[in-house]
Amino acid sequence: MGFQMIVLTSFIVALVVVQHGNCQRVNVATGFVERKGIHFILNGKTHYVNGFNSYWLMYMASDPSTRSKVTSTFQQASQHGLNVGRTMAFNDGCYRALQISPGSYDENVFRGLDFVISEARKYKIQLILSLVNNWNNFGGKNKYVQWARERGQSVKTEDDFFTHPIVKQYYKNYVKAIKNTINGLLYKDDPTIFAWELINEPRYINETTGKSIQGWVSEMAAYVKSIDKKHLLEIGLEGFYGETMPPNMHFNPNSLQIGTDFISNNQVPEIDFATIHLYPDQWLQGSNETTQSAFVDKWIEAHIQDSNTILVKPILVTEFGMSSKSPGYSIGKRDSYYNKIYNDIYRSAIRGGSCAGGLFWQLMSQGMGNMGDGYEVIFEETPSTALLIKQQSLKMSKINH
Ligand SMILES: *[C@@H]1O[C@H](CO)[C@@H](O)[C@H](O)[C@H]1NC(C)=O
Ligand SMILES: *[C@@H]1O[C@H](CO)[C@@H](O)[C@H](O)[C@H]1NC(C)=O
Repeated sequence: MGFQMIVLTSFIVALVVVQHGNCQRVNVATGFVERKGIHFILNGKTHYVNGFNSYWLMYMASDPSTRSKVTSTFQQASQHGLNVGRTMAFNDGCYRALQISPGSYDENVFRGLDFVISEARKYKIQLILSLVNNWNNFGGKNKYVQWARERGQSVKTEDDFFTHPIVKQYYKNYVKAIKNTINGLLYKDDPTIFAWELINEPRYINETTGKSIQGWVSEMAAYVKSIDKKHLLEIGLEGFYGETMPPNMHFNPNSLQIGTDFISNNQVPEIDFATIHLYPDQWLQGSNETTQSAFVDKWIEAHIQDSNTILVKPILVTEFGMSSKSPGYSIGKRDSYYNKIYNDIYRSAIRGGSCAGGLFWQLMSQGMGNMGDGYEVIFEETPSTALLIKQQSLKMSKINH
């Protein structure tokens, strides 16, 4: 769901340093987040997260007339104790593209991303930056495959993204270019970045063995770490189980298999922490509330347990939300849904478990018109939701193991 709500020629090694913005000295207020076993560590202490998604930050920042929405959103987030934001660090070949075509970048959009990172730093919010989309919004794997096809490569479906050598090289070039971008600091040296995400919600629908995504994750995780060892790395998984844990496949909504394997994908050594997403209203359409609610508890609990004992890595619930367009929606219903998930997260964290936090989908500021997707939370408009988010921030910040 994430990043799919609204409406990247040279295959020569991309430029090594992309420099833009002014090269001012940067005062870094925070250290790098690290991981130790099932916990995150920041400045020597266990670290917990209460966070948000705002997919549109770079998009809005790349136009001076809409840039103030980025500032007001970080301001609001900070006032509510939110300490991590997850957003797109890509826009491949679409309107306001960052990567216009393979290896060719729009400097204005890069300046937009610089702005996002420096505003985050100012408000002491760390960022999870996603590098490409599984879905077509803002380009995605489909655009990469199309670029290769236009250059005479033999590619069939969009899922060749995970296996075709030229397409994989486009992706690596992009990763290299973005990490060597200078924003006062090289991105790869900037602790404002909490983690990089390989791909938002990878899926390879017709491949039940999960071989292609497993291979892609191994190759790309090693590549990312070869140029940036300081930042944490996660995949962008929704949490669907695959064949390494047959007993767990029944946890998948409708027993669906999408070519990912929560266990073996996350066991790749360069992957620092696991992620899950959570959309019972879409995944279990037509099921009643009791069934959806039971699914939510089991989905979270099963993945936390696997992260505790099998993966021995931290886990974040990187997307959850409730759409105002879903049947029977009310603000009260959304609040109790958030509360339920926040409680599941807190219960793991307070006992020293692997779940370190959750990021709701999604935060917007007022006056953004048609950018909303039904899931947006605008603090001024829903004070009860704003309050419970703030309370969760406070609870998570007080945990110390
Ligand atoms: C999956 O297989 C079906 C049936 O062969 C085909 O119609 C569909 O396009 C395939 N989907 C993808 C994403 O490759
Ligand atoms: C909800 O659906 C489940 C599974 O179909 C069923 O067993 C249960 O009785 C339903 N609950 C309510 C309150 O309708």
